Formats: sequence, structure tokens, C-alpha cells
Amino acid sequence: MDSPQKRLEGLDELPPALSSMWRLCRLGYRHEPRLMLWAFVLSQLAALPDALLALWLMLLGRGVIESRPWLVTGSAIGLGVSATATWLLQTVSTRVQRRFRDKVTIALESHVARLQASIVTIAHHERPEILDRLAMLRDQVFVLDHMYMSVFATVGWILRLAVTLALLASVHVALVLLAVFALPTVWVSTWRPAVERAALQSGAQANRLARHLFTTATTAPPGKEVRVLGIGDKLVTERRSAWEMGFAPIASARWATAGWQALAWAIFGTAYVGAIVFVSAVLGRPAESVLLVLAAGARLSAYVGATVGEIGFLRGFWMDGSRRLAWLEDYAAALEAAADAPVPDAITRGIRFDRVSFAYPGTSRTVLDDVSLTLPAGSVVAIVGENGAGKSTLVKLLARMYEPTSGSIFVDDRPLARMPAAGWRARLAGAFQDFYRFEFQVRHTVGLGDVTRLHDSIAVETAIGRAGAEDVILKLPSGLDTQLGPTWPGGSEVSFGQWQKLALARGFMRDTPLLLVLDEPTAALDAETEHALFTRYAAAARNSSSGRITVLVSHRFSTVRMADLIVVLDGSRLVDVGTHDELMARGGQYAELYAIQAKAYQ
Ligand SMILES: Nc1ncnc2c1ncn2[C@@H]1O[C@H](COP(=O)(O)OP(=O)(O)OP(=O)(O)O)[C@@H](O)[C@H]1O
Ligand SMILES: [Mg+2]
Repeated sequence: MDSPQKRLEGLDELPPALSSMWRLCRLGYRHEPRLMLWAFVLSQLAALPDALLALWLMLLGRGVIESRPWLVTGSAIGLGVSATATWLLQTVSTRVQRRFRDKVTIALESHVARLQASIVTIAHHERPEILDRLAMLRDQVFVLDHMYMSVFATVGWILRLAVTLALLASVHVALVLLAVFALPTVWVSTWRPAVERAALQSGAQANRLARHLFTTATTAPPGKEVRVLGIGDKLVTERRSAWEMGFAPIASARWATAGWQALAWAIFGTAYVGAIVFVSAVLGRPAESVLLVLAAGARLSAYVGATVGEIGFLRGFWMDGSRRLAWLEDYAAALEAAADAPVPDAITRGIRFDRVSFAYPGTSRTVLDDVSLTLPAGSVVAIVGENGAGKSTLVKLLARMYEPTSGSIFVDDRPLARMPAAGWRARLAGAFQDFYRFEFQVRHTVGLGDVTRLHDSIAVETAIGRAGAEDVILKLPSGLDTQLGPTWPGGSEVSFGQWQKLALARGFMRDTPLLLVLDEPTAALDAETEHALFTRYAAAARNSSSGRITVLVSHRFSTVRMADLIVVLDGSRLVDVGTHDELMARGGQYAELYAIQAKAYQ
């Protein structure tokens, strides 16, 4: 059987653009089929009347020349209806599109969030670009919905272009060539922003300086010193010269690009006039045909420009975003396929680290070095070590936030890496050192620990009891219904220690975890409270029928000494394992540290 890493090989590259965009389209259709169809059809319908204006003009011309009042009236009505329909369809289509976009954005966001959550382990540790890819997608997901509009718009512009070319071809096939002469305008208008952006960038430093001087001269914090030093005038003159220096390259770039733009339009203009002369003088066509060429030709360059521009837009940002999304889908699917071992219902022997080494993604420093260790089923294991020894890292590996760089972790005999991460996490409880302050109502801040029982007051109260956090709730103005976070209406701020207790309560929401991790969850509490709490969850672990393992990280030896097994880490290596008595008898690092702390308390 392949390892997960093996299966993910070949998934480094982003999938091809067209298929990714097609997948994104299908994704939108799956979530909002009706709205998407309507948005598409309406956007195309809105494109038509605009392109048909030339036809009505031709008919009107014919009616006038041949003195056919019915034709004149008919085509005039056609013109009016066309103009109204363009406006109406555009308005309706914009509304429908907006609705579609709003809905599809929500769907896409949750899709991406789900996928990202399922990629818990970044198998490619040495590949920071994969992390970047995920981060970029997270930023892009809010704008991915624009892609649909961009696709619709592109098709709409192509439709207009096709209608216009067909009208021109109906006069003479050679007139289609007029589109070619519109290309220089397209080329210049795509090239122009890039040149101007580059110029802007080259002047960026001077502009930043100018801005800095301006804020220095005008804002309150530096105000005192600016006045005392008397440098106000100097700041103003320097700002002026910095601004001029920054603006010079931009101004010259704008002049140059404007020159090219004018030339490009001159080329199209010449061809346009040429086409009219060709139709009227060379081919000797009637006035109505000349009118058609006049109207259709005038729109041609705008249509060509818009089509090319929209395609460029699609190719840039949206293509990139959809490729990232398609990649994420493939990656998550491959990970899921690799997770072929079920999460056990109970642990019978224990969790075993087999020569586990680890370095954080994008770094080369080994944070855990060749750690082999067994955490026996039903035991309470304490991890001790100095700051930075790797204690939290070990906990994070257990929680599958990361995958070991080498070596494996086994739950009984099943490799942890092969278990679906979400399933494993569902059997995990506890609190992390860097817990998050969820600013919700207290009951939800705690209830989140087991989202399925978010609204279960009894479960929430039980968890609060387990964490010994009742006193926090009692002090809050509305008890469990208090909004946390001072920036929310009626919100209360609580102290760091109180936040920590709430995080701990959240960690105790699950009733039957296989693994309970407590990474210094009580650091802000006094030693006595920590001791009392610890006695309680140690008893719970020992009594559990599922072989629950409790992993506790603490710097307090009074607590640590009660654990069944104590793991001593030092500078990324495992230096000792044993019970308190064994470690004391051995007289190693543990005994030394214990003695120091015991002395301090005497
Ligand atoms: N996300 C990260 N990226 C890179 N390096 C990290 C990251 N988190 C921790 N480290 C590094 O890994 C090493 C071990 O960190 P860890 O958090 O496991 O230590 P610890 O034993 O829990 O320390 P403490 O007692 O301070 O909580 C440290 O040197 C730290 O700089
Ligand atoms: Mg830590």
C-alpha cells in the first residue's frame, strides 16, 4: 500500500486552466443550477439588441431612401425597442447575476473551508509554496464568484462580435478584415496599464517618502517634536520634491502610452474610412449598406477590445483562482483516499511514537529528533521540558495538525497518518496553549467544543464544571448568555485566566475522547486550582472504558508528579521516561528540576 506522501506525488502542479475553469463552472451549477442558467441566458440576451442596432439603422436607411413609410416606422420602433430592451435586460440580468454571485460565494466559501479543514496535514513539509497556494486561495475565494460573470461577459462579447462580423460579411466578406485593424488598439490598451504600473512602481519609494513626510508634518503623534524642532517648512519642501521625483516617471510613461494609443486608433480609423470608401465607391453599394458598415464598424473595435480584455481578465486572476481550487479538490481527494484506516472505538494498548522527527514547514531546524515512546492506554502522561523543548509540537503531532517529517505514530497498530484526520479529531478533546478567544455568547464559546451539542445547555454546564470555570460564569452579567468581547454590543471582556478557563471548558465538551490533550491549559491559574483540576481529569481518564489517554503539559512539578508516566524533553530530544519515583531515583534532569522547584516553594 502506498503511503499518503506517495499518493500525493504528482499533485504539486496546478491542474490545467480550461478544465479547472470548467470544474468551477460545474461547481456553480451544482449549487445554483436555476440561478446560474438564468444569469447566463439573460446576460446573452442583453448582449443581442446592442449588436443588432446596426441592422435597424440599415433598415431605417433603406426605408428613408426608398420612401417606404412602413419600413421607416418598423425600423424606428425596432431601434426604440432595442434600446429599451438593452437597458431592461441589462438591469434584470445584473440583478439576477448579483443574486447568483451572492449565493454562489457562500457555497464556494464553505466548499473551500471544508476542503481546507480536511487538509489537516501538510504532507509536503519542504514545500512552502504549497502553503502559499492555500493562503492565496483563502484570499481569493471571496472573488472567485466574479469568474462566472467574467465567463458570461466573455461569451456575451463574442456573441456581439459574431453578430457584428456577420452583418459586415453580409455586405462583403472582406469587411471582416476590419476586425484585424482593431487589434492594435487592443494591444495598446492591454499593454498600457502594465507600463503605467511599472512606472508607478519605480516611483513608489519616492511616493512613500512623500506620504511619510506628509503624515509626519500633519498628524498628532509627531506634532510635538515637529514644532519643537521647527522642521515644519523643511518637511513641506522635501515632500514636494519627493512627490515630483515619484511623479516624473509616471508622467513620461503616460505621455508615451497615450502616443501609442493615438497611433493605434489612427490605424483603425484609417481602415474604417477605407472600408466605407470601399463599400460606397468601389463596390457601389446603396446608402443603406454604407449605413450598416458605418454603424457596425464603429462598434467593432469596442467589441474586439472588450472581448480581448475580458479574456485577459479571465486568464489572469480567475484562471489562477480556479486552478488553485481544482488543485485543492484533487489534493483533498487524494488525502482522503490515503486515509484508509478507520479510527478505533477504543485504544487497547496505546499510542506509539516510532522514531518520530519533525521540523516545521518551511524550516530546517529539527524540533523533535528521533523520538520513540509509548503512551499506554488509560494512562495520564505528563510532558515536561524547558521552553522550546518541543512539548507543544508533540501535542500538535498527536492532534494531526502536522505530519511527522520522518517516523510514524501508531494508535495500537494502526498508523495515525492513515486515519481520516477529521474522524481522529472528533475523538480528540482538550485545550491548546495558544487557544483562541472565540468572541460569542459564553454558552457558544464553550459549546463549540462539541458542535453537535452547541445548544445543549446541560452539556455546556457539565463542561464548565469539569473545567472548574463556574466562578467565571458567576461573575458575568448575564451568565451563560453574556456576549464575550468588548467590541460587541453589550460585550464583556474577561481576564486572560478567565479566557483560559473557558477554553478549557470548551476542551471538555466531548464526553468520550480517546485522547485528551492539555497543553498548559492552567498556566494562568494558581498551583492549587491546577492540582485540583488535574486530580479530577486523571481520575476520569483512569476510569474510562475506551482506554483514554490524557496528555498533560505543565511546568508545575507538583502536578506533574501525579502522572502515570512522565516524559522529559530537552532540546528536541527525548531524554527520559518514567514515573516520578523512577525518575527521581535515576537522579537525572527531572530530579534536578524537581529539586529546584521544590526548594523555591519551601
Ligand atoms: N509554527 C511554528 N513554526 C516554526 N517553528 C515553530 C512553530 N511553533 C514552534 N516552533 C519552534 O519549535 C520549537 C518547539 O516549540 P514548542 O512550542 O513545541 O515548545 P514547547 O516545549 O511547547 O515550549 P513552551 O514551554 O514555551 O510552550 C521552538 O523552538 C519553536 O521556535
Ligand atoms: Mg508549549
